[in-house]
Amino acid sequence: MNTLSINNLSLTYKNGFQAIKNISLDIKNGMFGLLGPNGAGKSSLMKTIVGLQKPTSGTLLFNEVDIIKNPDYIKQNLGFLPQDFGVYPKVSAYDLLEHIALLKGITDKNQRKNQILSLLEKVNLSDFTKKEVHTFSGGMKQRFGVAQALLGDPKIIIVDEPTAGLDPEERNRFNTLLNDISQDVIVILSTHLVEDVRNLCSEMAVMNHGQILRKGNPGKLIAELDNKIWSKPIDKTELETYGSSYEIISRQLLERELHITVFSEESPKDFSSVTPLLEHVYFHTLTQKP
Ligand SMILES: Nc1ncnc2c1ncn2[C@@H]1O[C@H](COP(=O)(O)OP(=O)(O)O)[C@@H](O)[C@H]1O
Ligand SMILES: [Mg+2]
Repeated sequence: MNTLSINNLSLTYKNGFQAIKNISLDIKNGMFGLLGPNGAGKSSLMKTIVGLQKPTSGTLLFNEVDIIKNPDYIKQNLGFLPQDFGVYPKVSAYDLLEHIALLKGITDKNQRKNQILSLLEKVNLSDFTKKEVHTFSGGMKQRFGVAQALLGDPKIIIVDEPTAGLDPEERNRFNTLLNDISQDVIVILSTHLVEDVRNLCSEMAVMNHGQILRKGNPGKLIAELDNKIWSKPIDKTELETYGSSYEIISRQLLERELHITVFSEESPKDFSSVTPLLEHVYFHTLTQKP
């Protein structure tokens, strides 16, 4: 079992902006979803965990080893798919993986070759080993990103917003791949897509404004909202009135009719009960004052 233990972690950037505020999380094997809107601080947290930037305070332990003091320890065990992979070079998939494998210290030539070929197979790119990576589609690039992250058998894999920009089919394929690899390693998935977390993750946290607002098992967090989510079609002009008496967690147009969904401990008059979903957990968490 691998463990990542984040304790009272804070990060203030050079311009004085505090992007991470006293975060503590314990993460074990399996898929962990870090869910939050744009600007929440997800990438800041991911980059700090992988050692690209040092926190201002707090501790980070991977398998009991202090990885702020020993960043090499996490680097040796890490696969990272950053949000911005940068520019893809005009080299073939195979050659780029070979280059990255060498950087990761896979020095044995045969071992390198076997691993690259089996990874390309795993991510469904076997037919494109000689194709230049910069010509790949978005989905192919992301699957290539996973292949490079998996080189060297990492014990912790961090993927930052990997499905943003993928079409539904590519997203499905990518998610299936992540699910397959998360058995014996830690996979941290950062995303703003509630559905990906619901489909894949056994543990999750909601992050906003640099803080962890809620954490736990998605199913349990959803069950906490049983009989607390209600909806009603309203007229546009009533929105403000409802907003002042109820905690509106979402509003939605259904066939041009405005429906509001509210959180309420008691059954509000003329509302119908709604079966809670993870998106209700998410929006309810985000509407609460920190
Ligand atoms: N290098 C930096 N210097 C100053 N502020 C930064 C830097 N990187 C990110 N930020 C700010 O930190 C906040 C969180 O950004 P980020 O971690 O990228 O969030 P997310 O990945 O959840 O969208 C944003 O307000 C962003 O502008
Ligand atoms: Mg980000």
